[in-house]
Amino acid sequence: MKSRVEKVFANLPAKPDVVLLANSVDPHIDLSFFYLFDVPSGLFEGSVAVARPDGALDVTSSPLEAESAELAAKHDPHVAVHVVGRGETAQAVQKLIPASATVGLNFRELTHDWYVKLTEMLPNAKFVDASIGLQRARLTKEPAEIERIRAAAKIGSKVATEIPSMLKAGRSELELAAEMEYRMNQLGASGRSFATIVGFGPHSAEPHYQPDKTKLRPGDSIVCDFGAWHRRYACDITRSFHFGPRDPEMKAVHDCVEAAQNAALTALRPGVPGKEVHAAAQAVIDASRWKGRFTHGLGHSLGLAVHDGSGGLAPNVDDPLEVGMVVTVEPGIYLPGKGGVRIEDDVVVTKTGYEFLTTAPRGYLEVPA
Ligand code: GLY
Ligand code: MN
Ligand code: MN
Repeated sequence: MKSRVEKVFANLPAKPDVVLLANSVDPHIDLSFFYLFDVPSGLFEGSVAVARPDGALDVTSSPLEAESAELAAKHDPHVAVHVVGRGETAQAVQKLIPASATVGLNFRELTHDWYVKLTEMLPNAKFVDASIGLQRARLTKEPAEIERIRAAAKIGSKVATEIPSMLKAGRSELELAAEMEYRMNQLGASGRSFATIVGFGPHSAEPHYQPDKTKLRPGDSIVCDFGAWHRRYACDITRSFHFGPRDPEMKAVHDCVEAAQNAALTALRPGVPGKEVHAAAQAVIDASRWKGRFTHGLGHSLGLAVHDGSGGLAPNVDDPLEVGMVVTVEPGIYLPGKGGVRIEDDVVVTKTGYEFLTTAPRGYLEVPA
């Protein structure tokens, strides 16, 4: 897309002659490829994209995905698709890039194998890091991108609202995760945006837990962290529940996490560094008896990837928030051996503050066993 190619170059301090993206084999696909080339379907393993300062984009496609690629290019006069067979990529790259060009690469995503191959394909070229331009361009979303995340978030939010009706004693974490994913696809998701986290009891105290056959028991805390893909864009939502007899400590933990999220949202607006928003949530938890039990950053950028680059709301983010950034806001408190609570929402930064993209209720939910 012309405007996106131009945005990448505009965000590069030193302009290379071209920016080249190269995909390896799934999951080593550079998602910036799909930022520049808005093709709805296909993996594009082994494909390259060559972007130029005037907004033009050349992409290579294997015959396997030529139909999708050509259809997408038909809607975009600045994109040219080159269908290449096995073993023809080097020739295509040499045709598309002048021998002694300065070539910007996405150092954060390019495999080492590709880098070595490129130095052989273009022995007289100079290779420079263009990852900062890609990163900065992707951090602020345009309205069409926000609408895709909003659509994904609508699906995630609907399923989050339905989780209480899916909770039954004896049901396993894996069964619940499967049901959530099935419902997201029924609502139009093209899959899950990352491996669904469902943790019962002590497992809910592990932020990146992977579900297993553990069965739900009365008295368990529950953390469900999941998301939908929609037209290649992700949402990321977490809701925490309690199954069966009320646990006064976990209710108080939930209240504290909710207060931390509200404090962060109050601080969240353009111009504020990501670390200050984190600090607002951290201060609430540090003032409670659970000081030290908030063990991760408050949030991350969201887009084509669920962890969409290095922006966000973490203690190491000095960059100020900008209108159009989409971030998660996800404080949590984790009590090892007992349980955890995390509340995660997706918001877009607006002129006056933020707007929720996720819409599921955030209050404490005790589900009768
Ligand atoms: N799903 C992992 C996270 O919330 O960042
Ligand atoms: Mn999450
Ligand atoms: Mn997240």
